[in-house]
Amino acid sequence: MAELAGKVAVITGGASGIGESAARLFVAEGAKVVIADMQRQRGEALAAELGADALFCQVEVRQEAEVKAVVDLAVESWGRLDCMFNNAGFGGVLGPIEDVPADEFDMTMDVLVRGVFLGMKHAVPIMKKQQSGSIINTGSIAGVTAGRGPIIYSTAKAAVVHLSKVTAMELGEHSIRVNALCPGYIATPLSANTVGRSDQLIEKVHHTYAVRQPIPRTGMPDDIAQMALFLASDRSSFVTGQALVVDGGAATGVMWADQKDVYKSYHPIKVYNPDAGSIGGFGAIGATVARGLDAGIPGLKLTAASARDHDGARARMAGMATPPPVVSLAELAGMAEVVVECAPAAVFAEVAEAAIEAGRIFIPLSCGALLRHPHLEGRAAATGARIIVPTGALVGLDAVRAAAEGVIHSVHMVTRKPPNGLAGAPHLVANNINVENLKTAKLVFQGTARAAARGFRPGPNHHRNLGRPGRQPQHPHHQGRFGCHSFRNDHRRHPLSR
Ligand SMILES: NC(=O)c1ccc[n+]([C@@H]2O[C@H](COP(=O)([O-])OP(=O)(O)OC[C@H]3O[C@@H](n4cnc5c(N)ncnc54)[C@H](O)[C@@H]3O)[C@@H](O)[C@H]2O)c1
Repeated sequence: MAELAGKVAVITGGASGIGESAARLFVAEGAKVVIADMQRQRGEALAAELGADALFCQVEVRQEAEVKAVVDLAVESWGRLDCMFNNAGFGGVLGPIEDVPADEFDMTMDVLVRGVFLGMKHAVPIMKKQQSGSIINTGSIAGVTAGRGPIIYSTAKAAVVHLSKVTAMELGEHSIRVNALCPGYIATPLSANTVGRSDQLIEKVHHTYAVRQPIPRTGMPDDIAQMALFLASDRSSFVTGQALVVDGGAATGVMWADQKDVYKSYHPIKVYNPDAGSIGGFGAIGATVARGLDAGIPGLKLTAASARDHDGARARMAGMATPPPVVSLAELAGMAEVVVECAPAAVFAEVAEAAIEAGRIFIPLSCGALLRHPHLEGRAAATGARIIVPTGALVGLDAVRAAAEGVIHSVHMVTRKPPNGLAGAPHLVANNINVENLKTAKLVFQGTARAAARGFRPGPNHHRNLGRPGRQPQHPHHQGRFGCHSFRNDHRRHPLSR
């Protein structure tokens, strides 16, 4: 059934692009249409093609008398006016604000805003008499989001959107509906700045439109005409005061391809649960860190541990208030938000990969091991995992504490196999602490982060790993070469600060 049977419409800018498409569709759907445009030749040819249901009227929409004449022609010819489609438009003046001549600003606003205003002004008295009518004003996605069109054009289109809304408030009681129709990137001479140029060039430019929105095809004038048909028809009798965007999703947000990898790959819901920390590798260091956690770090308790030697691990837990379950490496990352790696080098990657794939906070005790697996950083970027790299004097328990509390304010340093760089550390020398030939883990320092930083200078291995020549007085805080998904407890503020 014809959607617009018995209805009369005026379409400004009806000789080309969106207006032309709407004129064809409206006539096909039973309407009588006045094609109003400044382009006489195109308009007359189109009216002739559409037959008795179409008339052409030349108009310059900036001129009030000419706009009134168009409305009058519709009423004189067919006795009424059901739809006023204020659609004529152009790109207007281009360039940065300081370069825009005032008279070109005026002209742009005149065509795009005054033209719409005049169309409404002269349609409304007819529609009020009828107590019915649909006014459609062509806005643009440039009028609802910034940066999608020239600045004055965009400003004018925003005005068109708002003009539609405020007049919808006024005219609703007369059963006159007013809506703004906001196209996205539509293949017309205007959008491609190809007015008057060759069809081949138009074709070439329009081809690029397909990739500019989530629906990967070129937006066509008929896509907009279909929405205009809906707004002109009685199907939309409860729709007014709206800015209806038809853009294949262009203005909706960031294209899928441009979004961060972390949003696009599945990883389980992460609820930050500071209660849950686990230890991968329950040797001497692991057991010492575990006992520290068992004794209590505010906000964090041990929930699981993994070890090759399960019986040995359980034996090392003797005396702990709440011994955690001993689980497999694969299970470990599923049980805790914070995974502390205390494992032998051979299984470092297993502990790390499971934690990072699960998007956990991963604390490797071995900085060097992390550097030997550079892919982990990239995976952390993709999964949202965070790597906290304990360096220098701050290892193990301190990193856990940092993760738990957000700020490092005290340091326990526990070591079993001290790196070479620890030899001669000022704190060890001053306190006569011997770390040669350790058989078990030893607490070698307890104090403030500042004192730890003074008492233990990072060793040569550490510097080599981080690609820096060494700590200098002017660099009191370490800077690693890790990227944004690795954080280093730098003795000051911790990245997990809440
Ligand atoms: N094509 C797009 O991507 C796009 C996007 C958003 C909004 N729009 C809007 O859609 C409407 C139609 O544009 P189109 O893309 O079909 O372009 P188009 O160039 O194909 O058609 C515009 C028509 O308006 C007429 N016109 C321009 N200024 C006039 C004036 N002062 N008086 C009378 N007629 C005049 C032109 O002669 C032309 O026939 C415009 O308001 C435009 O701003 C287009």
